[in-house]
Amino acid sequence: MSDLQLPKAGTIEIVPSILSADFAQLADELAVIESAGVRMVHLDIMDGHFVPNITIGPPVVAKLRQHSKLFFDCHLMISEPDKYIGHFVEAGANHITFHIEVTDEPKKLIDKLHKLGCTAGICVNPGTPVQRIEKIAPLCDMVLVMTVHPGFGAQKFMSEVAKKVIKVRKIVGPDIRVEVDGGINPQNTPTVVSYGADTLVAGNAIFAKTDRIAAINAIRDAAK
Ligand code: DX5
Ligand code: ZN
Repeated sequence: MSDLQLPKAGTIEIVPSILSADFAQLADELAVIESAGVRMVHLDIMDGHFVPNITIGPPVVAKLRQHSKLFFDCHLMISEPDKYIGHFVEAGANHITFHIEVTDEPKKLIDKLHKLGCTAGICVNPGTPVQRIEKIAPLCDMVLVMTVHPGFGAQKFMSEVAKKVIKVRKIVGPDIRVEVDGGINPQNTPTVVSYGADTLVAGNAIFAKTDRIAAINAIRDAAK
């Protein structure tokens, strides 16, 4: 457990996703983005079942926790979140997002996360309508709108899907964070911010660049 807080809604946060980072140098990668002044890092957890890719589990998160003071925003792209959220919180996750597509009892998961001292997020895939989370979104601390089909980094931003952010922002009001994830770059940043997103995940736009700090600043400037 770690006592870092989700930044209060209202500020724009650039949240690097380490999916496109050098997995053999993760501690160094975290140090670099921390030096760029970001407060949060996005950890993509994939199980090879809900999505056709596999990434990292609680042991890696626990090791990263020893090397970083960043807020760990864990995006669980897994079929059975209920089974694993305790392990991720114990490993040092500060926020956990699960997908609405994998559960009929989202409130149970949100309550469990809050009891564990972790903030809670719900995520909708590109094909899932916002109506599916209408009732549950206001109980979350952050709502995640996927702007690519989850599973891989460096995919093309889905501009029509991004418009779902407008609906989500309307549902949750100003006090809950709305996060976008998938294909975010300096070019589409002004659009998603104008829709109401305040939490911008970016993988390829940061880690495919040699100068990660300049890449973060480019997104930050585009959000102003
Ligand atoms: C996609 C992941 C994203 C991804 C974002 O399945 O959930 O977090 O890493 O990476 P980019 O910015 O490269 O689309
Ligand atoms: Zn993600």
